[in-house]
Amino acid sequence: MIELRSLRKEFAGVVALEDIDLSVPAGEIHGIVGRSGAGKSTLIRCLTGLERPSAGTVAIDGVEISGRRGEELRRARRSIGMVFQHANLLDSRTALGNVEHPLEIAGVGKRERRERARELLELVGLSDRAGNHPSQLSGGQQQRVGIARALAADPKILLCDEPTSALDSGTTRQILGLIRSLRERLGITVLIITHEMSVVREVCDSVTLLENGRIARTGTLLEVIRDTDSPLGRELLPLPPRQPGEGTVIEVLLTDVPLRALLEIVDRHAVDARVDSGAIETITGSQVGRLQFTVDDPGAAQALVADLATAGIHAEVTR
Ligand SMILES: Nc1ncnc2c1ncn2[C@@H]1O[C@H](COP(=O)(O)OP(=O)(O)O)[C@@H](O)[C@H]1O
Ligand SMILES: [Mg+2]
Repeated sequence: MIELRSLRKEFAGVVALEDIDLSVPAGEIHGIVGRSGAGKSTLIRCLTGLERPSAGTVAIDGVEISGRRGEELRRARRSIGMVFQHANLLDSRTALGNVEHPLEIAGVGKRERRERARELLELVGLSDRAGNHPSQLSGGQQQRVGIARALAADPKILLCDEPTSALDSGTTRQILGLIRSLRERLGITVLIITHEMSVVREVCDSVTLLENGRIARTGTLLEVIRDTDSPLGRELLPLPPRQPGEGTVIEVLLTDVPLRALLEIVDRHAVDARVDSGAIETITGSQVGRLQFTVDDPGAAQALVADLATAGIHAEVTR
């Protein structure tokens, strides 16, 4: 598990991180989101020991990274695998050779590292491409090799910095599917930095929003989405754009409540409700939905919202 306690990082008067308290349990996939300059890269660099915190601690599986130096730091770093936007594979080496590379540096014998690299390529579904050079692989395949290479030293956590930002949506899906399956099979803890909410929605169990170096919001995806005051919740489950029509607009958030319950209440009110837009997603195994509809009579809209609230359905008049 990853534990950050009162983490602070300052660069010559610029505070990049402040008051960061974050625990990511073992086997969880956690997303870090935030605008450019929010402190995401600094957070990752503190985790890998590339930056020393100005204050606070960073620990992985109870082993403190902050405060270590030299050989001790190198050893602690082996518990961390890194995946970047571009795999940056060595062109001169085959896929197998690229996965072997970190093992070679770590001094693992030839036969052993070859065997391990083969296992890893199989794990990422690339056994048949072991002999190909990077130029003969697609972007998604290169990223798979990059992931296999990151797993070579059998890390406990995988840090992914914008792992799918250079990939098309279909390939992104496959890579996210792979990350999920690695978590299932290896029990590895994953931290994903991304600017894509769709990535968080698809693969993460929990999320942290950084703003100006501080945690603006953190929680499980369902917690954040259920919090109707949270702008992050809205970004995670956005409504498709709609053409504004006439009438009173009602917005509903459905979590753990069957659609039937909503329809029954609307039906009982005998109002002519027109659905403007809606989104239904399965988030960490639970269905959640956001619906926007229009009712002509403002009084009827208020009565409907009150009844929905009684039934445990979050609803509000938004216009
Ligand atoms: N080495 C550095 N020296 C000075 N300021 C830095 C350094 N690294 C990051 N910063 C500052 O820290 C803040 C957070 O940066 P960063 O962690 O790169 O954000 P993000 O990755 O979210 O875009 C920014 O204001 C940035 O200018
Ligand atoms: Mg950055």
